Amino acid sequence: MESPANDQAAAERPVGFFDSGLGGLCILEAFKRACPRESTVYIADSANCPYGNRPPGEIVEISEKNTRLLLDRGCKMVVVACNTATAAAIDVLRENHPSVPFIGIEPAVKPAALKSRSGVVGVLATAGTFGGRLYRETKERFAKGVEVIATVADEFVELVENGETGGPRAEEAVRAKIAPLLAAGADHIVLGCTHFPHLRPLIEKIAAGRAEVVDPSEAVARQARRVLLRFGLAASGSAGPQHEFIRT
Ligand code: DGL
Repeated sequence: MESPANDQAAAERPVGFFDSGLGGLCILEAFKRACPRESTVYIADSANCPYGNRPPGEIVEISEKNTRLLLDRGCKMVVVACNTATAAAIDVLRENHPSVPFIGIEPAVKPAALKSRSGVVGVLATAGTFGGRLYRETKERFAKGVEVIATVADEFVELVENGETGGPRAEEAVRAKIAPLLAAGADHIVLGCTHFPHLRPLIEKIAAGRAEVVDPSEAVARQARRVLLRFGLAASGSAGPQHEFIRT
């Protein structure tokens, strides 16, 4: 990748984020905590939600459109705050925009597999994420000898988009996905979709004392911070950070 212009004006530009809706807000919030001086632009691409079952080619098109919108807004870096979009599109985005740093997100199978004592790990994600090369390769490399149970939990996306992160309907939907993982002996449950941390209190309540919930949001935020520093793109924030929210 070419190094982006290393000047202060470039550094004061915002960091862009996109997801199929509200899911990626957990990444955005973690990023704001890690980098309080940075301005941000967040695209909640509700018009195209959900991404989970779309063919990879469509996700690439949608991701490219979101990226262009963020770059038109002057963004200096793009955080693909969506596992599904990362799986389908991050290689193409990097190829299409070689001067822009991209940060992606993938299910945290590696730390979960390394820490598992039972040798069974549950992963919740979309079909698109499970179908991608990143997931397959990470699993093959880092989860040897560990049983990884892949569970598609599209219902969670709808719950979060409807703001239904508590109450009996949400609890029933979460229990239906978590109970089989616990019954199979999973001692770690990986949140492999950025919508799912919004249901974390419910997931933790159901898994309490049996499985640890693994959410990579903070790790992604730290990685974004490292990349900004590496490219000399960290904002001074002297004008005060601005945060823009765009809903399609
Ligand atoms: N939040 C997205 C992810 O991390 C996907 C949700 C959807 O299916 O749109 O995979």
